[in-house]
Amino acid sequence: MATLTTKAIELKNKIKNQSNIGLVPTMGNLHEGHLNLVRESLSQHPITVVTIFVNPTQFGKNEDLSSYPRTLDEDIEKLRQLDLKNSEIIVFSPKDEKEIYPSAPLINFSISSLENKLCDLNRPGHFNGVMQVIYRLFKLISPNSAYFGEKDYQQLMIIKTFSHELFPEIEIKAVPIKREASGLAMSSRNNYLNDDEKVDALILKNTLNSLKQNYFSSNESSVNLIKEQIDKTISKDDRWQYLDLLDADNLLAPSAKTTKLIIAGAYKINNVRLIDNTVFNI
Ligand code: PAF
Repeated sequence: MATLTTKAIELKNKIKNQSNIGLVPTMGNLHEGHLNLVRESLSQHPITVVTIFVNPTQFGKNEDLSSYPRTLDEDIEKLRQLDLKNSEIIVFSPKDEKEIYPSAPLINFSISSLENKLCDLNRPGHFNGVMQVIYRLFKLISPNSAYFGEKDYQQLMIIKTFSHELFPEIEIKAVPIKREASGLAMSSRNNYLNDDEKVDALILKNTLNSLKQNYFSSNESSVNLIKEQIDKTISKDDRWQYLDLLDADNLLAPSAKTTKLIIAGAYKINNVRLIDNTVFNI
């Protein structure tokens, strides 16, 4: 069964005697990447709450809040098609923003060591907005675990850190990137792309992969070499919003202690901003 509720109070009543809940927060327009998060949760919890809420506080002024795809009926249908075995899905999709934000947030969240890089450079305030909504969902639902995709790697790191400090009882589970047959990372924003643009978008994944290959095929100073190649790549194509190589454990510049690297990029096709990354042990 996948049932829909639109009111926070109803959701609270539905889950009040439940002691083992998985949470999958989404903004809807569900694709296989989201469904994978839900499958993970279903395999580990008798109740999975899937939230579908296009969170206004994480969109900048010139971003796509009003045009962000809203496809609630199709989303619920996709969840109903999942093999639930003995578990249950509760969809929480508030119609009224006030169910999540009864009043405007007065407290800001910031994790400075994980900001001022990658997506935060082009989307100031975005991660505060993400933490605002996650804070409210965690308070409302008190899940045992919450599931996030590795495509939004900086978001995942921020939520892990935020949760470790404010909600240590909630386990944050990371789920690998799901890709289309072409290799393009799945994203609700892929729906904005036509077929030619989808081919263009492969530059993102192909660049990340070739930088990673170059890292392993060079002998010494691989980090410096890759950084030079990144600078060259960006200077040749202004569609890159960022492309960077960082320590995947802390998003700092790689050091002698680094054991895992991330190469992450954001690439713009017309007005559509796509992100992707590759994480690897060294
Ligand atoms: O990754 C997303 O879809 C959103 O940032 C999230 C985590 C659902 C918060 O609105």
